Amino acid sequence: MMMSKNPKDQLIVALDVETFEEARELAALLAPSVDIFKIGSQLFTACGPVVVRYLMAMGKKVFLDLKFHDIPNTVANAVNAAVSIHSDVLGDNQNPSGKTNQGLLMYTVHTMGGKAMLEAAANAGLKQAKALGIKKPLALGITVLTSEEKNDNIPALVLERALLARESGLDGVVASSQEAKSIRQKLGKDFIIVTPGIRPKESDTHDQQRIATPFEAIKNGSDYLVVGRPIVKAPQPQEVVQKILEEIKQAQV
Ligand code: C5P
Repeated sequence: MMMSKNPKDQLIVALDVETFEEARELAALLAPSVDIFKIGSQLFTACGPVVVRYLMAMGKKVFLDLKFHDIPNTVANAVNAAVSIHSDVLGDNQNPSGKTNQGLLMYTVHTMGGKAMLEAAANAGLKQAKALGIKKPLALGITVLTSEEKNDNIPALVLERALLARESGLDGVVASSQEAKSIRQKLGKDFIIVTPGIRPKESDTHDQQRIATPFEAIKNGSDYLVVGRPIVKAPQPQEVVQKILEEIKQAQV
């Protein structure tokens, strides 16, 4: 568990919007208090890698959540392509800082793809980051989607898939707050846990079944919280962000 971190380093805002324009507006609005943005299949399908490069050029960290799940060779190639989204949006000749971009912070693959697929993904990510001379993005395994209904098998299944993820060379998993505690106990402090299904007190649960407040999720051992609709759909998104950052801070004590 990470103690006394800057709460900003633990909050990921899911940019689940339809257009580049909306993504740009929301990112600009939240930029002072949010450092990490998640781009999922909706926005990536609509805009492509340009939106990732745009956020990188703003100095933001990007979580590319495309949940790859295919044959090992295809997933390895997709990871290669994802890790390669790092060049500066202005192009080499016009980049005033002369710095190359940092690359992705993290990306996801689905643990249901099995060991061979997960190993192919982890190896491809490592190899490509080395070849490009950038920091290796964190490879995360999706365990069980948080919208799946609660049932008695989920905790065991999540743990099984988290172990598989580690054995296959991944850095961590995406898992609900309910499972974070046992993952942390079984897999130790260095295994990364990213938790969606976060709902600040009194907010709508939407389609998420296994929800937790930011406070509970941090207490249960999550390293990063992913929050989408409670922020994106709020009339005053910055106020919700401040509330969440405050809750994270309280949980760190
Ligand atoms: O809007 P909401 O806060 O529910 O957004 C949660 C985000 O986290 C969505 O972008 C969703 O795709 C993602 N996610 C999830 N469950 C997972 C993995 C990712 O809800 N297991």
